[in-house]
Amino acid sequence: MKDTYILGIESSCDETSASIVKNGTDEIATVISSQIDIHKDYGGVVPEIASRQHVKNITIVLEECLTKANLTMEDIDAIAITYGPGLIGSLLIGLEAAKTLAFIYKKPLIPVHHIAGHIYANNLVKELQFPLLAVVVSGGHTELVEMTEHYKFTKLGGTLDDAIGECYDKVARVIDLEYPGGSKLDKLAKLGKKTYKLPVPLKDDSYNFSFSGLKSAVINLVHNERQRGNEINKEDLAASFQSSAVEAIISKVRKAIQDRNIKNVVIAGGVAANNGLREAMEQLCSDLNVDLTYPPLKYCTDNATMIAAAGFYAYKDGRIADLRLNSKSQDELM
Ligand code: KG4
Ligand code: ZN
Repeated sequence: MKDTYILGIESSCDETSASIVKNGTDEIATVISSQIDIHKDYGGVVPEIASRQHVKNITIVLEECLTKANLTMEDIDAIAITYGPGLIGSLLIGLEAAKTLAFIYKKPLIPVHHIAGHIYANNLVKELQFPLLAVVVSGGHTELVEMTEHYKFTKLGGTLDDAIGECYDKVARVIDLEYPGGSKLDKLAKLGKKTYKLPVPLKDDSYNFSFSGLKSAVINLVHNERQRGNEINKEDLAASFQSSAVEAIISKVRKAIQDRNIKNVVIAGGVAANNGLREAMEQLCSDLNVDLTYPPLKYCTDNATMIAAAGFYAYKDGRIADLRLNSKSQDELM
């Protein structure tokens, strides 16, 4: 069978990325231009600055990716683009670049949901096996998604308020860690002990999550301790917070695996990099005898490799858009 080369483009937040993936599994070349150093000074991503950086970077990133792959646009079968969700100004830059290339080179344009990309980051490790549960944990999403075949997604539940990554970043900020704080908090947690009493949120029968209560509990705790003139043990607070956050995820994953006869689990999104979550998921999946996959660190945070991988299956599923395709800041995964 002829090989299929997909060019993926991702610009939903603060990474400008292009990648070429063969047959949905083989990474040929990837280029990522990160803006972390620019946004760090503001303590978070500034949307207006992010879009301007994407404008500056997008053509350079695309050219570099093709050069690295030693391919030309003629070799590309289709262009996969993150159409949403994300920052609208950022999304539009990638989308316009994708549309322009699709128009000039007469290539099919494949719209990819950002979360489908995060799930398919696992396909670069090992081809997805079904029935599958995707544990989606990122800066914008916390969801349990069931898949019975390629590119068919059923959302079982999601967060009722904050996403887990967002909660990590806010808690990190409260204890003065530099943006992006999630990974720094994870490192601190490894050094600490669970000594602070924090709630495990939403212990109910649903597949939903809630992180705003846990976030407020940490903020209140830090505030009260500081008012009393007590020093916060940051390592112990990080360990206590991580224990509650991970337990909130694990309890719902356990329920979903048991209720839905799941045999394969993948972790998807930036928080898939979290050591505490990886360890707890490994233990759970080993106890329940299900197969667990999570992406290497380079595929956990935003990249176009995962978009190109997902794009291959979206293309096979006939999901081709015309040039009226628009970006969406919010959209359900379907
Ligand atoms: O998937 P992603 O790159 O962006 C979205 O699609 O939202 O995820 C970014 C999120 C940030 O909130 C970041 O702090 C968090 O992932 N993150 C982590 C870790 N590494 C990244 N959170 C906890 N532990 C980590 N090791
Ligand atoms: Zn992401």
